[in-house]
Amino acid sequence: MRMRKLPWAEDFLNEQEVVVKEPAQYKGTWKEMLDCTCLHVEIGTGKGDYWTKMSQCYPDFGWIGVEKNSSVAALAVRKFVNMEGKKEHMRFIQDDAEEIAQWFAHGEVDVIHLNFSDPWPKKRAHKKRLSNHKFIAQYADILSDDGEIQMKTDNSSLFEYSIMEFQNEGWYLHDFSVDYRRVEHDEDVITEYENRFMERNQPIYRAVWKKHPVVKKEN
Ligand SMILES: C[S@@+](CC[C@H](N)C(=O)[O-])C[C@H]1O[C@@H](n2cnc3c(N)ncnc32)[C@H](O)[C@@H]1O
Repeated sequence: MRMRKLPWAEDFLNEQEVVVKEPAQYKGTWKEMLDCTCLHVEIGTGKGDYWTKMSQCYPDFGWIGVEKNSSVAALAVRKFVNMEGKKEHMRFIQDDAEEIAQWFAHGEVDVIHLNFSDPWPKKRAHKKRLSNHKFIAQYADILSDDGEIQMKTDNSSLFEYSIMEFQNEGWYLHDFSVDYRRVEHDEDVITEYENRFMERNQPIYRAVWKKHPVVKKEN
């Protein structure tokens, strides 16, 4: 469902220091800026529940939210402005992630979160999916060697497509579930969209991919 354009959104976003206007300028310096050793990036924050709440659950990590829609982004940033707690480890980028590799240096990001990404059901629009191979190639560049992608969705077609795209690009399926909320996961915040699907008793699909297999150490 498309959101009504908020007339105050762009001026508001321009005034907020948490919003990084020229992200490419900070390529290679994000961890220093956020004083962290582990950098998480959420692409498609929507109204920002996950970005704001996860950053409070894990204040030692850096948290960067990315959202292309300015009205939705303004609601996420307003949530940030109104929240209490530590904030120095957070930034927001209001832009399309289609050239995300311009913003981060090789291996700079540790975890990328894709929560309830737009499913773009028509075949000709699959290239816009955040799990399309063109995005995956950029994730491979900016993720650290043991970095990972964490994806949640309600959409079985998008889930199947994503499994195949990551597989074809040579990634490793590290974890997955076709009913993630069947058991409690206190370690992971429920997003706005996730909440809606859970209220309708729809299963939540989740997958975690890594670039390289995790080698288990022998005892
Ligand atoms: C269906 S909403 C989900 C919002 C939120 N993650 C949640 O789970 O509640 C997907 C969001 O991703 C954003 N989005 C889609 N493609 C994007 C892209 N290429 N770059 C940045 N944001 C994107 C959309 O504008 C939308 O707000």
